[in-house]
Amino acid sequence: MNSTLPAEFLWGAATSPHQTEGNNIASDWWALENSRHPLLPERSGDGVDSYHRYPEDMALLAGAGLNAYRFGVEWARIEPERGHVSRAALAHYRRMIDTALDCGLTPVLTLHHFTGPRWFADLGGWTNPHAVGHFARFVSAVVPILYEVDWVCTINEPNMVATMAGAQRAAPDQNAVQAFTTGVLPDPDPEAARTLIEAHHIAAEMVRAETDAKVGWSVAQQAFVAAPGCEDQLAEANRLWEDPYLEAARDDDFIGVQAYTSRLVGPDGPIPHPEDPANTLTGWAYRPDALGIAIRHAWQVTGGTPILVTENGIATADDSRRIAYTGEALEHLRLALTEGIDVRGYLHWSALDNYEWGHWRPTFGLIGVDRTTFARSPKPSLAWLGSVARANTLPAPETLETQPC
Ligand code: BGC
Repeated sequence: MNSTLPAEFLWGAATSPHQTEGNNIASDWWALENSRHPLLPERSGDGVDSYHRYPEDMALLAGAGLNAYRFGVEWARIEPERGHVSRAALAHYRRMIDTALDCGLTPVLTLHHFTGPRWFADLGGWTNPHAVGHFARFVSAVVPILYEVDWVCTINEPNMVATMAGAQRAAPDQNAVQAFTTGVLPDPDPEAARTLIEAHHIAAEMVRAETDAKVGWSVAQQAFVAAPGCEDQLAEANRLWEDPYLEAARDDDFIGVQAYTSRLVGPDGPIPHPEDPANTLTGWAYRPDALGIAIRHAWQVTGGTPILVTENGIATADDSRRIAYTGEALEHLRLALTEGIDVRGYLHWSALDNYEWGHWRPTFGLIGVDRTTFARSPKPSLAWLGSVARANTLPAPETLETQPC
């Protein structure tokens, strides 16, 4: 049976400021990339110049048939020096919101997507005792431009941000991002997690007090699955990596699910993805069923907070593979809907091939970009996703297999 979706179902694509805008020079990541760190071999540079070309980006998405666009505001541009709020930067982001609305795209706006001002990182970032106050001051500057924005994501992947903070606690003489690139991915820092949760709740309250937006945050989900006999280890991996952040969203208007791949949890915890020719350009296992696993887990842990898929996609140079992956992921989303899970939308990562945190090779985009001329080349996957969006129906598959781990 085909599943026709509610008319207001969001069909869109997502980006973040630092990965697309270019020249985000007051940010912590810019500083790091330009220190020629061996783990960040490539710099963001001009990005894909979306700071200037966002009208073209949005027109392409809307023209293809999508009705939503997730993008962010950049703290490092809005408050490039502590206490100095750039009115011009705020006006820029308000123009982006207006442009999206004029194109018929519902803006889904992220307040914090990994990057922050360099001054904040130098103060210790999320490990600074006044971190919540700094973030709240930034949010108070942004709230006045959020009228007519229906969806606000406070912090992208707080569990990954807490991981970066954990690295910093281990190496306090370095700033958070520098510490992150030591190569070892530590567990998320529980103290930073508490700080991020507090920051989220305060920001959500501030946004709700002044707007009608639905407010939530988005969690990186690894769609953990237990190896035989490893149910306790699975519970521990979820407790460490995902559940506190999902539990913090119990009273939110939505939870942003972000899933790309699934990880097996063995006797010693999460197991790295084994080498496999089918792995994607980020080295992750090809697992479109991760979306269904993540949606069910988020639904269960939040106790029924409405779900918005804020990221799902694949790093591949073969666009037909992107269509195959996404088609299968959407089948898993359809199954979740038939189980009664309240999923409000699907936002593909990413709208554009963009800067993948130190690398340009892993291409996630529905639109390719020539990084010399900045010319945009929509891929067949954009037209394909747009046609799914226009139909607003998820076709029932003949059979749907969940791959064994
Ligand atoms: C992040 C994006 C990133 C994507 C693919 C998510 O963790 O929010 O910024 O590009 O995954 O790695």
